[in-house]
Amino acid sequence: MAEAASRVALITGAGDPQGMGAACARRLARQGFAVGVLDINGEGAQAVAAQIIADGGHALALETDVTDRAAVTAAIEEVRRTLGPILALVNNAAVEGWCKFEDLTDALWDKTFDVNLKGAFIVTQTVLPDMEAAGWGRIVNISALGGQMGGVFDMTHYNASKGGMITFTQSLAIGLGAKGITVNTVSPGFIDTPMARRAIETSAFPIDYRDILASYPIPRLGSAEDIATAVAFFVSDDAGYITNQVLGVNGGSYS
Ligand SMILES: NC(=O)c1ccc[n+]([C@@H]2O[C@H](COP(=O)([O-])OP(=O)(O)OC[C@H]3O[C@@H](n4cnc5c(N)ncnc54)[C@H](O)[C@@H]3O)[C@@H](O)[C@H]2O)c1
Repeated sequence: MAEAASRVALITGAGDPQGMGAACARRLARQGFAVGVLDINGEGAQAVAAQIIADGGHALALETDVTDRAAVTAAIEEVRRTLGPILALVNNAAVEGWCKFEDLTDALWDKTFDVNLKGAFIVTQTVLPDMEAAGWGRIVNISALGGQMGGVFDMTHYNASKGGMITFTQSLAIGLGAKGITVNTVSPGFIDTPMARRAIETSAFPIDYRDILASYPIPRLGSAEDIATAVAFFVSDDAGYITNQVLGVNGGSYS
């Protein structure tokens, strides 16, 4: 098996410096991974990768849409050429698109499922041969509290796509455990990132978001670093006997 310092991780949706994907990329880079910072936002991906490199890590920015199989294939080839085979994958890219159910269009439903679920399928399928060849791999899929228990009515499409991430994880885990590859889900609650701020700023919640937070056992927003901690645990060697799990990082609002 490769030394920790030479392992490569790919994180999708890592191109917003304040998002969870970037926090995961920074965390894994600090733990010795060379990281592929993939995002549809190329400028953001460049900024995140540049910061990791300035901090002494190894990173490669990839301006890529996870729904575009040809672009994903090209990006992953570039990671292999530049950094090496990919042994850890974090499927984090997603869109939310708040919309009342009665106004939901086929186009928004399809886009949500394409980015949030089909994107994870395309990237995972493309990366998997590296892990199978190494006999070691870690896949972490980012779901959502709403994907576990349902959620806000105006997010039926998003919550359904995120529920799919959990059963995607479970089905993959069954097939890959014997090959040394673990597959787990991290399910964030209400986390202080650009996505959550968009919801707060547009008053998307049916009640004041502070009342939602006050109802949690830990009554605050989570941080992107809280998510990175959970992801880094699943990626670690120490988590080698842990697969097919959903870890909620949600302040205790659901278990
Ligand atoms: N913030 C929360 O409260 C919260 C709660 C539950 C789950 N989540 C999930 O956590 C993950 C990270 O969310 P975040 O809050 O950091 O969101 P974010 O919007 O800040 O980050 C998502 C990233 O995905 C990228 N992206 C969007 N479409 C893409 C595409 N087609 N190809 C490649 N990249 C694409 C965006 O450019 C962005 O950088 C997401 O899967 C989200 O659904 C977030």
